[in-house]
Amino acid sequence: MTNINKTVVVLGATGQQGGSVAAALRADGWVVRAVVRDPSGYRARSLAASGVETVRGDLGDPESLRAAFADTHGVFSVQPNSGQAGAGVTDEDEVRFGTAVADIAERCGVAHLVYSSAVTAGSTTGVDHLDTKSRIEAHVRNLDIASTIIRPATFMELLVTSEIGLDRGHLSFLMRPDQAMQFIAVRDIGRIAAAVFGSPESYAGRTMEIAGDALTGNALAGHLTQAAGRPISYSRLPTTLPAQDEVLSKLEALVDDGRLVGNANLDALRTEFPFLLCFDRWLAGPGAGLLDEALRSTDTAIAPR
Ligand SMILES: NC(=O)c1ccc[n+]([C@@H]2O[C@H](COP(=O)([O-])OP(=O)(O)OC[C@H]3O[C@@H](n4cnc5c(N)ncnc54)[C@H](OP(=O)(O)O)[C@@H]3O)[C@@H](O)[C@H]2O)c1
Repeated sequence: MTNINKTVVVLGATGQQGGSVAAALRADGWVVRAVVRDPSGYRARSLAASGVETVRGDLGDPESLRAAFADTHGVFSVQPNSGQAGAGVTDEDEVRFGTAVADIAERCGVAHLVYSSAVTAGSTTGVDHLDTKSRIEAHVRNLDIASTIIRPATFMELLVTSEIGLDRGHLSFLMRPDQAMQFIAVRDIGRIAAAVFGSPESYAGRTMEIAGDALTGNALAGHLTQAAGRPISYSRLPTTLPAQDEVLSKLEALVDDGRLVGNANLDALRTEFPFLLCFDRWLAGPGAGLLDEALRSTDTAIAPR
């Protein structure tokens, strides 16, 4: 607990990444201020109960960001996913939010900005909700502020959503059964961000792909079968589906050309961040509850031998 009097502002703290970052920063002794749209909501109240200061604000309201960033050491910046149906955020909104956070952090004299991007950033993918990240990254790098860009791999949490089909004994995802793709536990994004804020001399100016494991579709099925105690098979998302869905088809092409699978150096990352979870340890730990939920509506469990 060495960071006791320094404040880091966390955006998206009621969501996955921001929630993980807020928890890890608190554990490291930082004062954490979360910008939330509704301080009376359940998640904001849980944050407050865990010792996080919550202030009302909105990514679309620069004045609220200026007020929140005053006299703070750091800002963790993540934007809602413009590619997510129902999120109510356009690609232009995402870029506007991400650039505004960085501009205001610079003007407020924030010492360290950490921006969470994605593995495909740095090249033009033709998928608008991924290319937003490249645009925000370029803007951040041009500012006069110490910054670190992390590019998380696909979240392990995406593999055990309740809609994905595990209750029917099957997982379909973007890669071929024999093709490896990198993944990261959301918990570890927070721990890495906290380590980055804790050692600005090591991380300012860096752009880092981050991941905890690389798994083929067949390996995913093996780990899920083991953890669930019932057979779970794997196939690539149905070929009829991408034909109907242009974005999905482009995502599969980005897996095939290597850009969406992630290219982090896992050995180097594990040396730097020894807490990084591989998929089987995540399934037995932070992911266990999610896996249970995803399996729940089925009665096909294998009887114990
Ligand atoms: N899924 C993956 O595998 C993956 C991998 C790499 C990168 N990413 C990127 O991760 C990002 C999403 O992160 P996440 O999954 O942590 O998000 P999330 O769980 O969906 O949470 C979104 C957060 O943003 C907040 N928010 C939304 N609109 C806001 C606004 N106008 N003002 C202030 N706060 C607002 C939400 O607050 P409320 O509680 O008020 O709604 C919530 O806290 C996306 O940019 C996505 O592209 C995802």
